[in-house]
Amino acid sequence: MSKKTTRSLWFCRECGSEHVKWQGQCRVCGSWNSLVEEPTGNLFQPASDLGRPVPIPLQDIDTAAESRLPLPDPELNRVLGGGLVEGSLILLGGEPGIGKSTLLLQLALALKGRRVLYVSGEESERQLRLRAERLPQLNDQVLVYAETQLEAVLAAALDLKPDLLCIDSIQTLSTAEVKAAPGSPSQVRECTLGLLRLAKGQSLPVVLVGHITKEGLIAGPKLLEHMVDVVLEFEGDRRYDYRLVRSQKNRFGSTPEIGVYEMRAEGLRPVVNPSELFLPSGDSAFAGVAVAATQEGTRPFLVEVQALVTPTSYVVAQRSSTGFDSGRLHMLVAVLEKKCNFRLADQDVFLNVAGGLHIDDPAVDLAVACALASSFLEEPIPPDMAFAGEVGLTGEVRSVGRVDARVAETARLGFKHLVVAERQLAEREPPAGLTLMGFGQLVEVFKFLFGPGAQRG
Ligand code: TYD
Ligand code: MG
Repeated sequence: MSKKTTRSLWFCRECGSEHVKWQGQCRVCGSWNSLVEEPTGNLFQPASDLGRPVPIPLQDIDTAAESRLPLPDPELNRVLGGGLVEGSLILLGGEPGIGKSTLLLQLALALKGRRVLYVSGEESERQLRLRAERLPQLNDQVLVYAETQLEAVLAAALDLKPDLLCIDSIQTLSTAEVKAAPGSPSQVRECTLGLLRLAKGQSLPVVLVGHITKEGLIAGPKLLEHMVDVVLEFEGDRRYDYRLVRSQKNRFGSTPEIGVYEMRAEGLRPVVNPSELFLPSGDSAFAGVAVAATQEGTRPFLVEVQALVTPTSYVVAQRSSTGFDSGRLHMLVAVLEKKCNFRLADQDVFLNVAGGLHIDDPAVDLAVACALASSFLEEPIPPDMAFAGEVGLTGEVRSVGRVDARVAETARLGFKHLVVAERQLAEREPPAGLTLMGFGQLVEVFKFLFGPGAQRG
């Protein structure tokens, strides 16, 4: 009896995870009926059929810095760690309509004097031309190719020898090697592998656009993220104009790093000073408003936090949060109740981070707690004051990372006071015009802001 050499694996259409046999529910993401069978014959070749890479001594490897193509766009340049590395494979993920094609085409059109091959499987040449008409056009060497066959794309890239190859999107490409529909995990994997070999072999930087599933995963196998050198995620709330490019993985730079853009009628404008987007103009003080000195990547900026604490008309009071983790909001409400003697059980609590931005930085805790207290007490916080501190379960104000960058940004924006954890005052001289104030406990911060009688029972 001959042994079967081609075998199948089952892949989840939602999350791309691998399974050795069919089952009704994906054990990784829990989706029902999402497993599809795909042959993986070439995964099981005998070792003798494979090419033999030659191991080389570590110390013989050339350590000259990788050569980079600097980009005219300061945001993307920084997110990538200082330009596009030759031969790197970059995945740009994001929800449909967020602006991935715009960003990529804009990048191609700004790379003056460089030949760029822009492969689009989603839009026709005419649509691309129409889109380009809205964007600043500085590069007349952008070649557009509406093609979905990997083999054709590889041949075009070898012929034309571009300085940059853009694939929009990886889910529309397919190779004749694999008998599965475009966008299926094995197609995405094989096409990415083909492009990876091209990138490394030709020292050509390749940018892949990838779609994101409703769970926020980059569609196609998770494997894709392991294969590429850089994973950038393009995100934002479509109701607002700003967009963020966040590096989730970067073999040639630091993560997480962000770039900020504003979507305009004439394309994406890099926002060099993000505080301008997330801070309100005007300096009148309202109860329930506090400014947080936050940090994304190496980028410090200030953002306004707004709270509304108001007597509930329901049996169970509501807690609602936009742009800030709701579990964390519940925790801060509990700290206010237990450690600061606020009675909030019969109060609805709403929290909003201005601009629709989503913030994970724990340093925003202190501003959130102060905004909640300010709204509850109807006592405004001075508009020239900002906060940077994490709040612990015992009501202590805790130190935060990269405090010097936050101090510098706060001073640069003309704020007079920055409230931090007491421990962070040591050996720190703030820039002229800014006073640093340190506190050990949240109650002390409230006493300072709202007076000694502030903790109403
Ligand atoms: P697009 O780049 O097509 O998104 P993706 O490739 O991620 O699906 O961007 C789509 C949106 O951007 C579209 O709704 C229109 C808007 N847009 C502008 O506001 N200004 C512009 O200059 C361009 C080109 C697009
Ligand atoms: Mg697109």
